[in-house]
Amino acid sequence: MCGIFAYINHLTPKTRREILELLVTGLKRLEYRGYDSAGVAVDAADQKDIAVLKRSGKVAALEELLQEHSIDLSVEDCVESHCGIAHTRWATHGEPSAVNSHPQRSGEDNAFVVIHNGIITNYKEVKTFLENKGYIFESQTDTEAIAKLIHHLYNQHKDYSFQELAEQVIQQLEGAFALCFKSRYFPNECVATRRGSPLLVGIKTRRRLSSDHVPIMYTNNKATRGVVPSVPRVNSHAHFQPEEEREVEYFFASDASAVIEHTNRVLYFEDDDVAHIKDGVLSIHRLSGSSTDPHQREIFTLKLELQQIMKGNYDYFMQKEIFEQPESIVNTMRGRLNFADSTVTLGGIKDYIPEIKRCRRLMLIGCGTSYHSAVATRQLLEELTELPVMVELASDFLDRNTPVFRDDVCFFISQSGETADTLMALRYCKRHGALIVGITNTVGSSICRESHCGVHINAGPEIGVASTKAYTSQFVSLVMFALVISEDRISLQKRRADIIEGLHQLDTKIRQVLALDNEVKKLAEDLYRQRSLLIMGRGYNFATCLEGALKVKELTYMHSEGIMAGELKHGPLALIDDSMPVVMIVMRDPVYTKCMNALQQVTARQGRPILICEEGDKDTMAFASRCLQIPKTVDCLQGVLSVIPMQLLAYHIAVLRDCNVDCPRNLAKSVTVE
Ligand code: F6R
Repeated sequence: MCGIFAYINHLTPKTRREILELLVTGLKRLEYRGYDSAGVAVDAADQKDIAVLKRSGKVAALEELLQEHSIDLSVEDCVESHCGIAHTRWATHGEPSAVNSHPQRSGEDNAFVVIHNGIITNYKEVKTFLENKGYIFESQTDTEAIAKLIHHLYNQHKDYSFQELAEQVIQQLEGAFALCFKSRYFPNECVATRRGSPLLVGIKTRRRLSSDHVPIMYTNNKATRGVVPSVPRVNSHAHFQPEEEREVEYFFASDASAVIEHTNRVLYFEDDDVAHIKDGVLSIHRLSGSSTDPHQREIFTLKLELQQIMKGNYDYFMQKEIFEQPESIVNTMRGRLNFADSTVTLGGIKDYIPEIKRCRRLMLIGCGTSYHSAVATRQLLEELTELPVMVELASDFLDRNTPVFRDDVCFFISQSGETADTLMALRYCKRHGALIVGITNTVGSSICRESHCGVHINAGPEIGVASTKAYTSQFVSLVMFALVISEDRISLQKRRADIIEGLHQLDTKIRQVLALDNEVKKLAEDLYRQRSLLIMGRGYNFATCLEGALKVKELTYMHSEGIMAGELKHGPLALIDDSMPVVMIVMRDPVYTKCMNALQQVTARQGRPILICEEGDKDTMAFASRCLQIPKTVDCLQGVLSVIPMQLLAYHIAVLRDCNVDCPRNLAKSVTVE
C-alpha cells in the first residue's frame, strides 16, 4: 500500500536541504509499500507558503524533481523547527500521475496538505458536499476530499486547534486510513491519525526519556456523523514532553523500517488515536467512549538494525531474503525448540494451550503466500492435533459469512500483520467469540495487537514485495505449533522426534538447496521466453506448486499455474504438449506412486517435465528432461526445501525478463485495502 513519512524537528536546527534528504530517505525505505508516484510538502524558502513537489514514478523521479527545484528549496539557512511530510503511493483512486500523487491539497496556496494510506469509502458523499460549497477538485483521488474537508472546517471554526480539526475530519470518514496533515495556518505543527492502516511515531531526543508512556487525552465529544459538525472544546494537558532538554525530533511512518536509522524508540498508534505535535510536545487524543483502550501508549525500543533492511552484497532485496533462509528459519526456532530434550515452547500461546486442545476445530486464515503456508502445513496439523483443520483465503471466508463458533481457534497468518482482508476476518471471528491466534512477522502490527495470543515468526524485515523467507518461517512456526499440541500423545512420539530432528537439520539442507542457484539460473535461461509455466505436485508439496506459481506470476508476469497432480486427468492434461513447460515435484513420500502416474501421463503426451526430486533418485530422473535434485528431509518438511528452487527460478526469470524484482508492477508489500 502507500508509505507515509513525516519529519518534525523542534529546536534541532536543520537546513532545508537536510530536511528534504531526510524525507526522501524515509520514502526510499518505504518504497516497497507503493511505488507509482511520490511527493513531499515542506515550508517554502519564505517560510510562509508550503511547497508541494510530486511526480509519478519511483522516489528517484521525485529526487530528480527536487534537484531541479534546488534554487528554491536548498537554501542553506537552518530552520530550528519544521514539519515536512512525504508519501509514496500505490494507486487506488485515480491513475498514477503528478496530480493524483500525495500530498493532496486544499487551496491554491496549499493551505492544508495531507498524505494518506488507505481508502475512504464515503469520499463521493464528502466530495459532493464540498463541491456544493464551492470547492473545486483537481484530482481523482479520495484523499483530496480530506484536504478540502479540513480546510472547510477551518473556515467554519477559526479558533479550533489543528488536532480538533483533524478529530472532526475523521468523524466524517468511512473506510481505512492513516493520515498526516500539515497546514500553513499551523506552522511547524503536524497532526497524524489512523483507522485500519498502520502508523507509528519514532521519537529522538538527546537525553533519555523520563517516561516510556504517553498519556491519552480523552476528548468529550461523541462521534457525530454529518458533514458540518460542531466541536465541543477540549483542554489538553496530557502529553509527552521530553524533560530537561526540549530538543526533539519526531518521525511519523507507516512502518519502522523508515525510522530505524534515526531512532529505535517508537510508539504504535491505535485506531482513532489523533496525535498532535506542537512545540516539541506530542499529545495523543481520542474521542471519549470510543474505546476501552488503556490510558497510555507505550514507547517501545526496537531491536531492528539498519543493516537488516539494507541489501548488502545482493542485487535485490528478494535475492537477499531467499539466501537468508538458513538463518531466518533458525531465528524462528530460536529459544523455542530444544533439540536436546525434544521440547517445544511457544511463549506467546502457552497460556492458551489447554483451551486450544479443547477446541472444536482449527481455522487457518490468510492471503496469498501466507495462505499457502497454511495449505503447506494443514496435513501435519490434522495428523498431530487430530482436529479438523480448515484453511481459508481471508477474502472468500468473509464473502461466505462462514459460520464461526466460540470453541473455534482461528489463526491469522500475515507477514505484515496489516493485510486488510486478514484483519477484517480476524475481527469477524473475534465478534463470534473464537480464540484469535496471530502468526505475524511484524511486532506491534494490527494483527499482533488484536490477537488474544500468537507467534512472532522472527524472520526479520522482508522488503522485497514477493514474500520468500516469511513463507518458510510461517511454515516452521505452524509445524512447531503442531508439535506443541501433540506433546503428550504417546503414539506420536516417534513421529514428533523425526520432525524435530528434521527441523534441526533444516538450515544445512536449505544451504544445500541454495547451492543449486547456478543450475536454476541455467534453467531460467531456457524458460524465460516462454509464455506459460505449469507446476505440478500433490500431498505435502502441493503448496509449493501454488506458491511457486504465485512467485512466477507476480515477478515475471508470465502465466503460471499450480496444479494438484491428482486433478491432471480432470482437465489440465489438455494443456500438455511438447512445447508446454511443466515443472513436477516428485519426492519419495506417501504420494510418490501417484505422482509417478501423473509424470507418465505427461510424458505420454510428449510433455518434457522438469523434475524437482530427491538427490540420487535415478529411477525417477529417468522420466525427466532435466532435474533439480534436492536433499531429502521428513515428508512434512519437504515443502520448505522444494519451494526454494521455485523462488530462485522466479527470481532469475524476472531478472532475465528485465522485470522489477523488488517492486513488481501493480503490487504492494502490505495490502491495507479490502
Ligand atoms: C506474494 C505476497 C502476497 C502476500 C499477501 C498477504 O509474494 O507477498 O501474496 O503474502 O498479500 O500479505 P501478508 O502476509 O502481509 O498478510
